[in-house]
Amino acid sequence: MMNHSQPTGADYNYTVVRQFALTTVLWGIVGMSVGVLIAAQLIWPQLNFDTPWLTYSRLRPLHTNAVIFAFGTSALFATSYYVVQRTCQTRLFAPKLAAFTFWGWQAIILAAAITLPLGITQAKEYAELEWPIDIAITIVWISYAVVFFGTIIKRTTSHIYVANWFFGGFIITVAVLHIVNSMAIPVSLWKSYSVYGGAVDAMVQWWYGHNAVGFLLTAGFLGMMYYFVPKQAGRPVYSYRLSIVHFWALIALYIWAGPHHLHYTALPDWTQSLGMVMSLILFAPSWGGMINGIMTLSGAWHKLRTDPVLRFLVVSLSFYGMSTFEGPMMAIKTVNALSHYTDWTIGHVHSGALGWVAMVSIGSLYHLIPVLFGHGRMYSTKLVNVHFWLATIGTVLYIVAMWISGVMQGLMWRAVNADGTLTYSFVEGLEASYPFYFVRFIGGCFFLTGMLIMAYNVIRTVKAPDNTLPALAEAEAA
Ligand code: HEM
Ligand code: HEM
Repeated sequence: MMNHSQPTGADYNYTVVRQFALTTVLWGIVGMSVGVLIAAQLIWPQLNFDTPWLTYSRLRPLHTNAVIFAFGTSALFATSYYVVQRTCQTRLFAPKLAAFTFWGWQAIILAAAITLPLGITQAKEYAELEWPIDIAITIVWISYAVVFFGTIIKRTTSHIYVANWFFGGFIITVAVLHIVNSMAIPVSLWKSYSVYGGAVDAMVQWWYGHNAVGFLLTAGFLGMMYYFVPKQAGRPVYSYRLSIVHFWALIALYIWAGPHHLHYTALPDWTQSLGMVMSLILFAPSWGGMINGIMTLSGAWHKLRTDPVLRFLVVSLSFYGMSTFEGPMMAIKTVNALSHYTDWTIGHVHSGALGWVAMVSIGSLYHLIPVLFGHGRMYSTKLVNVHFWLATIGTVLYIVAMWISGVMQGLMWRAVNADGTLTYSFVEGLEASYPFYFVRFIGGCFFLTGMLIMAYNVIRTVKAPDNTLPALAEAEAA
């Protein structure tokens, strides 16, 4: 409970949190709609309508950028700005700069949404945007760091809660990754060339790519987990000591694992082996963190029967555990020889992306939105429950389909006849994949429908007149 000298809800800057929370839902719908469209194009290629800016090659990076940087990162902005204020018991530092991060980030999203379909790209995965946009990202990100760490510095509590360590680690590392990987020489307004060449370029790119996974798609969302799981369960974190070990172990290990994306390439062999070993060791802290999150429910398991928000959070942790078991396995060179280039990778990505990243964000938003708009709960808990089932079934359909088609592709590509010729042509492998592409498309439709239901529920909650939804009491207590 709070004492009277501590700030109350009215003392926090919720404006920017509200803006980012609402745009998370919007960009989630946009990014996932593009995901469903490209999933459909893989079955019905004519859906590109012979239009250059609707081709798969241009829409695929639009999907990845929209879901990672518009949907996922907006969720991180919203929750980190909220959590840092609540746990430091102070308002955001530099509110105008915080507002700038919101509008600046929206402008960057818009620039990405225009340039990617036009085919303007640096052709580096997850770092496609051209140099003027890269500079804008740097400016907004540094402003974000100033607001976040400024708030930590002016805190009125002596302790820095562990969620802020994860958010802080994510903010600093993403700044370093982005600046180093985006180093390029511009030759015109919309064309530049990387300062790195050959194998060095590949290494820097995948040092960036893997740590975007490790720090943006993992550490940031673990920050979310360490605040919203205990809040929603009404229990303290299972082991605070384990959470600190979890943090430092992830920081120390993730940064070395990038070469597992470049097995059997021109990269020196020892770097590949190092990447593999570090990935295997990563399993331990990842599972330590997952267990810490799930065990936070000790004594509150019964709440899962009635609270769909808690279900979102717990299921997200299960998918986190699943993808961080699968990842180290795929990093083993002999396993990667089968999985690389196949849909198995796509299945792994989406068990992390849909099951972990999207589910933990959705659960956190369902906790956050009623608080931000002064209500005790969402407009309809029933619809939250419907969303939960659509998201869970959608994710399972997606990843199971990709696992089967991925392993099948890997086996078909390596099958040889007694005389040493290939048993299957590439097209035969593709034809065998179609049924699974259809199942993935259906899974995507399930997940997207859940997001549309969420949007309806959010609008009804935001628009509800005061006191028509049960009054805010429990959620307001810090
Ligand atoms: C309705 C939900 C979604 C659908 C239908 C969907 C569909 C797709 C499809 C069809 C691809 C291309 C696969 C290929 O090239 O073979 C893809 C790639 C990707 N998606 Fe999604 N997606 C969805 C949600 C998400 C979310 C929420 C995230 C992240 C938070 C995400 C992250 C990615 C990434 C990182 C890739 C690139 C994977 C790689 O290059 O290995 N997706 N998605
Ligand atoms: C211990 C944790 C993890 C390890 C060791 C790991 C390892 C791997 C490996 C070996 C690959 C395949 C590389 C290839 O053959 O090209 C991969 C791909 C990928 N993983 Fe993980 N993974 C982990 C957790 C996660 C999580 C939690 C996410 C969250 C979304 C994630 C997202 C991705 C993405 C987006 C790719 C595709 C990259 C690309 O080729 O475009 N991973 N991971």
